[in-house]
Amino acid sequence: MHQEYGPPGIVVLTGAGISKESGIDTFRDPDGLWNRVNLEDVATLDGWHRDKKKVLDFYNEARGLFRAARIMPNAAHEALARLETEYRGDVTIVTQNIDPLHEMAGSKNVIHMHGREGKVRCMTCGTIFPSDADLSIDSVCPECRTVGELRPNIVWFGEEPMRLDEIYGALGRCGLFMAIGTSGQVYPAAGFVLHVRRRARVRTVELNLEPTENQPLFDEHIYGPATRIVPPYVERILADTAI
Ligand code: APR
Repeated sequence: MHQEYGPPGIVVLTGAGISKESGIDTFRDPDGLWNRVNLEDVATLDGWHRDKKKVLDFYNEARGLFRAARIMPNAAHEALARLETEYRGDVTIVTQNIDPLHEMAGSKNVIHMHGREGKVRCMTCGTIFPSDADLSIDSVCPECRTVGELRPNIVWFGEEPMRLDEIYGALGRCGLFMAIGTSGQVYPAAGFVLHVRRRARVRTVELNLEPTENQPLFDEHIYGPATRIVPPYVERILADTAI
């Protein structure tokens, strides 16, 4: 809904750092996923065409770890869910994460711009359906019956992120933009802060373990683990009637 009056909307961009304290590794930290696995092999269309089994095995294993770890939302996810419930204006969470932790914490208005765990897509007919089952090169599409063309419904490098129109709509209306736990290395998400800064009267805040390369683009900076810095910041927004 376009908001003409009332408190300005809030857009919260989240990245892997918000889920780190729930036990999910980030991508680019020293212990991050892309320091252990070659992303060209498992997160690009070229990698898929080269070796589908390798790609599917990688995601099957990741899914298994997810399940085994019984991941739970942390205090940062919970604070954002509270923000959505208690703030009088719109709160939109745009997450680059494929994990379900925002929803598990109770957030409703969540856009998974890089896709979401637990959904599968057929490369032949485009059908998307929920599935937690492991995929193999023998998996059959329930819709078009093609064999070996099912993949996780996750955005790979070089592919267009999902729901960009909705995201830019929310960015165009917001008065506060927060980036939490993201290194700002992957576009278009890394460019959202520049996009909102084109408008006057938009406040931008970076909440991260450490300063990122995008740091100079934010008005305010709060550094530390997400579970320590996000809850008090949310508290501050809710107490601040000026926002
Ligand atoms: N609290 C807050 N921030 C943290 C924490 C923590 N406990 N731990 C790590 N961070 C920060 C790191 O300092 C880093 O800046 O989180 C950021 C994580 O950065 P990346 O690993 O690059 O993750 P992200 O920005 O989400 O990656 C974007 O890249 O590979 C793709 O599709 C993948 O969605 C992902 C995208």
